[in-house]
Amino acid sequence: MSERAPRTAIVTGASSGIGAAIARALGELGWSVALGARRVGRLETVAHEVAKAGGRAAALALDLAEPASIDAFFDACECTFGPADVLVNNAGVCVPGLLHEVTAAELQCEIATNLVGPALLARRMIASLRARNAAGDLVFISSENVSVPRPFQPGYTASKWGLEGLARTLRLELDGTGIRSTIVRPGPTFPTEFASGWDALIVKRLLETWQALGIQRHLRWMPADSVAQAVVGVVTAPAGTRFELVALGPEAPARLRIEGASE
Ligand SMILES: NC(=O)c1ccc[n+]([C@@H]2O[C@H](COP(=O)([O-])OP(=O)(O)OC[C@H]3O[C@@H](n4cnc5c(N)ncnc54)[C@H](OP(=O)(O)O)[C@@H]3O)[C@@H](O)[C@H]2O)c1
Repeated sequence: MSERAPRTAIVTGASSGIGAAIARALGELGWSVALGARRVGRLETVAHEVAKAGGRAAALALDLAEPASIDAFFDACECTFGPADVLVNNAGVCVPGLLHEVTAAELQCEIATNLVGPALLARRMIASLRARNAAGDLVFISSENVSVPRPFQPGYTASKWGLEGLARTLRLELDGTGIRSTIVRPGPTFPTEFASGWDALIVKRLLETWQALGIQRHLRWMPADSVAQAVVGVVTAPAGTRFELVALGPEAPARLRIEGASE
């Protein structure tokens, strides 16, 4: 199969932000895209956008924190478009706060949504691909928190480290099968709804801490479409080639550039 032939993809967290942008970008390739998230009404809006872009899409309920929902979602994806070629594990949540400030339930929700749920979904996807002896792509949307751990996001950072550990292990387990496992690791991206529910006081404390630690040089962000284009590059790479990690982020403002001696 040519890498440019239309394929079938599953995108989690497609109801907003980066996931919606990935779904639209795959629609532009003429692909069929199964969209998963809890807000099905929002998924339906994105499904219209995918169709307008030239693809086909279905809005399917998914709660990654509930194993039974993951199985029902995967079955619904296969029923709607047939077996999928590509899984983009994009959905994620972050509850900001120092570890002792977040509740046990919030911490468990982060780990379930960002790590355990994606692993259970990847497990179903790999079983389906291997039963058909088919090539495919597993894409894991990580975070630059893996390169630079950030206080006020301990559960989120730990879950993304775990997600990258999973993706790297799968790369070895699947090498030679035609099934690729790739990490896409974005930096600050906007507009998305990632921080939409965060308390203003926590945001102030978090930014002041990151600036004091030198891990927040500026407040620039990149558009969600940039991450979507990285995913398109990964899943349309020629057969026999695999990206291991695509790390991307916004460029610094000109005021932070290092001047040359003659300037
Ligand atoms: N924005 C950034 O700066 C940034 C930087 C690095 C990495 N990332 C990563 O990019 C991914 C997308 O984030 P975003 O920025 O686009 O934020 P977003 O707009 O808040 O999108 C998060 C998505 O995850 C879904 N989701 C949350 N909990 C879920 C659950 N239990 N089951 C199923 N879906 C669930 C949400 O849908 P429902 O609420 O409808 O379920 C939503 O579609 C995340 O993995 C995030 O960690 C973001």
